[in-house]
Amino acid sequence: MEKVLPVPSLSERSGDRPRAKRRFSRRLVIGVLVLLALLLVSTRVPTLYAVLRPLPPHATTALSRCRSLSLAPGPPADFHKRKVSDRFVHGTKPYLLKNGRIWTGLENGTEVVHADILLNKGIIESIGHIGHLQLKNYKDDVVTVDLKGAWVTPGIVDLHSHLGVSSSPHLLGASDGNSRHGPILPWLRALDALNTHDAAYELSVAGGVTTALVLPGSANAIGGQGFTIKLRKTAERTPTSMLLEPPYQINSSFPDHSGPLRWRQMKHACGENPSQVYGNTRMDTIWAFRDAYNTARKIRESQDAYCADAFAGNWDALKDKSYPEDLQWEALVDVLRGRVKVQVHCYETVDIDDLVRISNEFEFPIAAFHHAHEAYLVPDTLKKAYDHPPAIAMFATHSRYKREAYRGSEFAPRILAEHGIPVVMKSDHPVTDSRYLLYQAQLAYVYGLPENLAIASIISTPAEVMGMDHRIGYVRKGWDADLVVWDSHPLALGATPKQVFIDGIPQLDSPHFVQKPASFQRTPRVPNFDKEAADTVKYEGLPPLVPAKSSSGPVIFTDVKRVFMRTGRAVREVYTAQDAEMGAVIVENGTVTCSGAYTSCVTPNLLADAEVVNVKGGSISPGFTSFGSNLGLGEIGAEPSTMDGYVFDPLVQKVPAILGGDGAIIRAVDGLTFGTRNALLAYRGGVTKGITAPAHRGFYAGLGTSFFTGAMNRLEPGAILQEVTAVHITVRPYSAAVPSISTQIATLRRMLLHPVDGDAGEWFRGVGKGRVTLVVETDSADIIATLITLKKEVEKAYDSTVKMTIAGALEAHLLAKEIAEAGVGIIQVPSQPFPAAWEMRRILPGLPLTEQSSIAVLLAHNVTVGVGSVQPYDVRNLPFEVAWVALDAGGEISKEDAIALGSTNVEVLLGGDIEADGLHDMVVTEGGDILDMQSKVVAVISPTRQLVDML
Ligand SMILES: *[C@@H]1O[C@H](CO)[C@@H](O)[C@H](O)[C@H]1NC(C)=O
Ligand SMILES: *[C@@H]1O[C@H](CO)[C@@H](O)[C@H](O)[C@H]1NC(C)=O
Ligand SMILES: *[C@@H]1O[C@H](CO)[C@@H](O)[C@H](O)[C@H]1NC(C)=O
Ligand SMILES: *[C@@H]1O[C@H](CO)[C@@H](O)[C@H](O)[C@H]1NC(C)=O
Repeated sequence: MEKVLPVPSLSERSGDRPRAKRRFSRRLVIGVLVLLALLLVSTRVPTLYAVLRPLPPHATTALSRCRSLSLAPGPPADFHKRKVSDRFVHGTKPYLLKNGRIWTGLENGTEVVHADILLNKGIIESIGHIGHLQLKNYKDDVVTVDLKGAWVTPGIVDLHSHLGVSSSPHLLGASDGNSRHGPILPWLRALDALNTHDAAYELSVAGGVTTALVLPGSANAIGGQGFTIKLRKTAERTPTSMLLEPPYQINSSFPDHSGPLRWRQMKHACGENPSQVYGNTRMDTIWAFRDAYNTARKIRESQDAYCADAFAGNWDALKDKSYPEDLQWEALVDVLRGRVKVQVHCYETVDIDDLVRISNEFEFPIAAFHHAHEAYLVPDTLKKAYDHPPAIAMFATHSRYKREAYRGSEFAPRILAEHGIPVVMKSDHPVTDSRYLLYQAQLAYVYGLPENLAIASIISTPAEVMGMDHRIGYVRKGWDADLVVWDSHPLALGATPKQVFIDGIPQLDSPHFVQKPASFQRTPRVPNFDKEAADTVKYEGLPPLVPAKSSSGPVIFTDVKRVFMRTGRAVREVYTAQDAEMGAVIVENGTVTCSGAYTSCVTPNLLADAEVVNVKGGSISPGFTSFGSNLGLGEIGAEPSTMDGYVFDPLVQKVPAILGGDGAIIRAVDGLTFGTRNALLAYRGGVTKGITAPAHRGFYAGLGTSFFTGAMNRLEPGAILQEVTAVHITVRPYSAAVPSISTQIATLRRMLLHPVDGDAGEWFRGVGKGRVTLVVETDSADIIATLITLKKEVEKAYDSTVKMTIAGALEAHLLAKEIAEAGVGIIQVPSQPFPAAWEMRRILPGLPLTEQSSIAVLLAHNVTVGVGSVQPYDVRNLPFEVAWVALDAGGEISKEDAIALGSTNVEVLLGGDIEADGLHDMVVTEGGDILDMQSKVVAVISPTRQLVDML
């Protein structure tokens, strides 16, 4: 410690007065001279001037505001010394989770520790072996849970969500995601629209999502500010109480904060979306960006000039000036000061290139490009972005829905990772259901993203990209107590939370779970796609998808573990290799001639001229059948010129007389497009058959058709499997496209009981007589009940049994008994339900929220059930989806029945010619069976075409 020395007073020191007097006068002269000199130079040396003149009244504020310009966002230095979280809810008990297998997020996502975790006061208090001694201060308060080795990860972090702003179910009154008031709106804030009643909060938490960055939509070049929320309910019930470290601007126009700043988030978008909304071109959008940033730059420069004067004490120059600021532009000025995480929706090379140039012109970093379907083609451009390469936030297999997504690839995550670019998987909820964000990481892993990065892609990496990694995204002492306890390895298909903690609070009241096979606790094996990934880059996203070769000669598949075959309507496992037995399947001219033990199938003669393919423990199974999307009716959904288009709807418009007026009925077969990328990818995924109805917007669809997904044109033998399958209509709530539900039902009743003249009448009479299947697309239990009543009415009139299938059917579980009794079939689309609209709000969510899934409930009532896909690019994943449905049923659904859910059942329910022999292709998988994520489809056995396609 320094001592404070007493300063002698003037009178004490002035013992020698005359000498002192002389010195004093000399000092006076010098002092006066100095003062004069000071006065002379004071106009030029403001600091000195300032010393002598009082500061103007606004100086203190101005100086503190100017000083705050040099502050950077981030947590305070002592943040991790906190003992209690700012989000701690009083009364929350400490939790001791014993014996977890913990993925911590550390060591580049490779660290897994077997340990206990103590959660207290909303934070992770300790990790390791936690004994009684450590707990003695908590008395009996601690809730102890033995995890018995279960996998634990930090909570899932969704970097791109519209949860709460584009609400579910979608209702006009809660559709606040996009403003249409201009391309540049940096002053809008997603927080101001956050609906606290979105049905997805609870569902997404049940999928392990604990934190989401809620962004405005992509209709604008600059759509506004995003906000990070935690998804749990709060006692306050307000949007504000859900926020995680909100920036200080939320309740102050120009906060003059002296402490560390908090990160802000800003949404940008380029390409098709902002263009289409404002009738712009890409050139207009990019100019809008530059113009906006130029405005912000000018404000920043005048602030800097003002502050230069203020720091220099040049108050005269600032006499009539206030600090330059503008409430509309302050957020964009903050971008230029590097205090905002800029989240950019951008797809294509041209858009990415544009934004990278803008980031360099105005000198601001981009946190991430979102969607960015072509980012994997331009890694070097990403590396040229200002300050650091942006992360890429992607979908796994969600592509080709519009032109700028056409070159999207399932290999993009691995390719970007190989270039060292941070990879994030995101939901864009409700575009994809954030409850299943983990599934996107699983798919990225299947297609080659390394395990550590795949798990990090939905946890630590997004936490870092949004500037929150000091408290979420890791299991570390002092981090937020957001954890998920899983029922399997997180990358195993169907992994489901057994419990989710947010701020130390368990979120699942009475979670349901099933026992998973032991193999699901290990890192799943995945196929090798090195060649496919290399080809994807070589062909700039459009690698050839046609089979490498086709063979009509004999082919011997060896090391076959299981063979599943169709037997009429069912699927049966006809061969299972015993322990060390080598299984074999012989195919000649596209027909399986023997399946069983190698020794019993393979003869020396055969070996002489057969091709031998080792499938390494693979299997043979029936090809899957797609329904529910417009697969086969065109290439890019949002590009009319690539699509068949929509039929006339006699309920809302006049059908031209030349077409037959109200008696016309359209056949989907006439609008088929072959060789589309979605169809060929479905084929390579084991989905060999597509059944599709004519594309329609309203009530009236037409006649469905069944086709071979691997065909390149309609005239190829076997391209059309069945010209007409069933009659399709849709009953949906009242909208611009359709009159009331009751009007639609009345129309259907009349069409069935009093068929019109013409083709349509004939087909509807066929339905009435029970010769033709009627497929009605609807989800509402009320509409399904009405259709059951109508079915009985029609059966009475015709003295028949009407074949009726409901497609969609997300509320069907509410009427399982009645549906079974009425002999109605169900195709659930999609396999994992989501309450996107009011008419499907009563979904049965399944594990961990309910014991059973809707599909399991229907099957338990002996209803024939099939599974469909909403989007044509999802069809390739159909085998994974039925496998997942079976896993959720915890062994109640066998592999055979699961395969039937995606093949024979779908065909039966859609009027498919199920009994016809020789129509049904078989799929050969390597490394596992068709339901395993580790397997890869390597060949298709085609009896119609009498050959084997080698993929
Ligand atoms: C992180 O992991 C990836 C994939 O396993 C690896 O390629 C990369 O080099 C690792 N990075 C560091 C810094 O270790
Ligand atoms: C304003 O918001 C901040 C969080 O950004 C919060 O800490 C503060 O208490 C709020 N002030 C008022 C007056 O509500
Ligand atoms: C395969 O087809 C060819 C040509 O049609 C025929 O010559 C051959 O006998 C067939 N092989 C078998 C095993 O049926
Ligand atoms: C379903 O079918 C099985 C076997 O045919 C039968 O045992 C069971 O009772 C049926 N369940 C219901 C709910 O009808």
